[in-house]
Amino acid sequence: MITFENLVVRFGEFTALPDFSLQIEEGEFFTLLGPSGCGKSTALRTLAGFTEPASGRVLVDGKDVTSLPSDQRGIGMVFQNYALFPSMSVRENIAFGLKVARRPKAEIDERVRAIASEVALTPAQLDKGVAELSGGQQQRVAIARALVMRPRILLLDEPLSNLDAQLRGQLRIQLKELQQQFGITSIYVTHDQDEAMSMSDRIAVLNQGRVEQVGTPQEIYERSATEFVCTFIGSVNRLRDESVQTLASYPGTPVQAGRSSYARVERFVLQDRGQPSEGLHVLDGVVERVDYHGYFTQYAVRVQGDPLTVRVPYHPSAATFVVGDEVAVGIAPRDVLQYERTQSVVTA
Ligand SMILES: Nc1ncnc2c1ncn2[C@@H]1O[C@H](COP(=O)(O)OP(=O)(O)OP(=O)(O)O)[C@@H](O)[C@H]1O
Ligand SMILES: [Mg+2]
Repeated sequence: MITFENLVVRFGEFTALPDFSLQIEEGEFFTLLGPSGCGKSTALRTLAGFTEPASGRVLVDGKDVTSLPSDQRGIGMVFQNYALFPSMSVRENIAFGLKVARRPKAEIDERVRAIASEVALTPAQLDKGVAELSGGQQQRVAIARALVMRPRILLLDEPLSNLDAQLRGQLRIQLKELQQQFGITSIYVTHDQDEAMSMSDRIAVLNQGRVEQVGTPQEIYERSATEFVCTFIGSVNRLRDESVQTLASYPGTPVQAGRSSYARVERFVLQDRGQPSEGLHVLDGVVERVDYHGYFTQYAVRVQGDPLTVRVPYHPSAATFVVGDEVAVGIAPRDVLQYERTQSVVTA
């Protein structure tokens, strides 16, 4: 178990982490998600022992490691840019840490062979120079180099972000399988929310060095705790006051007028007007634009002056609409995400 306890990290005058606390459970695949510059790498580097906090503590299994040298923390790290030794072969790169630890040659050979096969590197690739490998293969080498040391904790700082989309998708699945197989507590850093959602047991969303929310992907997505999380994750519509008032007029509804309100684009149901819509709140609108994407169709629907984006996933029996259609836009009240207004309304 990893605990960040009231960590403060400064770079000169700038405070990157003002008061960072977080707890990560044994065996968990935990992701730090947030925009560029929010402090994700800083948090990882502090845990790894590369960055010293001004105050606060880092605990691993209840033991204070804040002032322990980096190489004694049992932590493996994989970076975005692979950080391999370019003049060494793949085998030498993977074996490097074991050599430094003065393990016997037979043991090194066997551990390198075993881990290479785990990350799908072929014996022939082991004897190539790292520069001869593709980006995806190089990242497998970096992962093997970290795993061969049998770390208790694996830190992955945007390991897939230099790779093309297809390769990223494949490696995502392989990485997650490796993590589960080895049961290593892993902290993954990304600003790709799709990656975060599909891989993680839990996610912490960071904003300007602060934790906005910690939760399962589903909690983060469906019950976003703050306006920042709500708008950072997924695609949302901000609802105008007129629409919110209509929704809030449903008897017994939890929707309240006067609050900052959002709805995710795929949570709307598009249907003909006058059709029954069990459990949904309904707004009348007119289709203004239709964009076909294959696995979904995206509609722009004008609702009481609100230009709503509605994403309808492909379904064999889904109704289709054309520009000018008068439609009803339904939404379950629990899918209307509401927050206190953070800015006061300026009136003329
Ligand atoms: N060594 C440093 N010296 C000065 N400022 C730094 C240093 N490292 C990080 N920072 C600053 O601290 C803040 C957090 O940086 P960090 O690298 O942790 O962000 P990040 O969330 O990893 O961003 P990215 O997604 O771009 O990698 C940024 O404003 C950055 O400029
Ligand atoms: Mg970073």
